Amino acid sequence: MKKELKDLAFHTMGIESAGVLAMLHRQSFPVEEVWDEQSFQSLLSIKGTESKVACVNSDPVGFVLFRTFGDETEILTIGVLPHYRRCGIGRALIRALFNKGKVILEVSFSNFSAIYMYKSLGFSIIGKRSNYYKDGSDAHVMYYGS
Ligand SMILES: CC(C)(COP(=O)(O)OP(=O)(O)OC[C@H]1O[C@@H](n2cnc3c(N)ncnc32)[C@H](O)[C@@H]1OP(=O)(O)O)[C@@H](O)C(=O)NCCC(=O)NCCS
Repeated sequence: MKKELKDLAFHTMGIESAGVLAMLHRQSFPVEEVWDEQSFQSLLSIKGTESKVACVNSDPVGFVLFRTFGDETEILTIGVLPHYRRCGIGRALIRALFNKGKVILEVSFSNFSAIYMYKSLGFSIIGKRSNYYKDGSDAHVMYYGS
């Protein structure tokens, strides 16, 4: 059964979010894929890079890190804490980017839940990046917009 989330809020943030993104990433991804605070600081120091952090009762529970150039936004990473999944937070974080224009992202061939979520939001697979991840696995390139 889906959890009802009260007091769900979304905050657009900059480099000051590096610490909270590192904490959320650590709890959302397998240990071999975790990005540290310094990596988030470096990414957030590049022009056009921002985050959106989802909070429940002011506690951070999910995030998306993205970079916008003109009318195209690239999702660099997204995650929701396991306890808060399947409540619509992932979808809401991505929908919040649609007013910027086109959205592009890479997703592992084996990440079926994320691929399903992106397709349900209107993303199409437009390409493949071979050997994209450290373990040598491939990624789909997915695109939203005309
Ligand atoms: C992918 C992720 C961000 C989705 O976040 P979420 O808040 O659970 O997403 P939502 O609740 O908005 O779900 C959106 C849809 O995705 C699909 N989905 C999400 N998780 C799923 C799962 N475990 N199994 C099947 N479908 C799933 C469902 O269609 C779901 O809609 P529904 O609940 O109405 O059926 C979250 O699972 C996560 O953090 N995963 C680990 C990190 C990751 O893989 N990030 C993506 C890298 S590209």
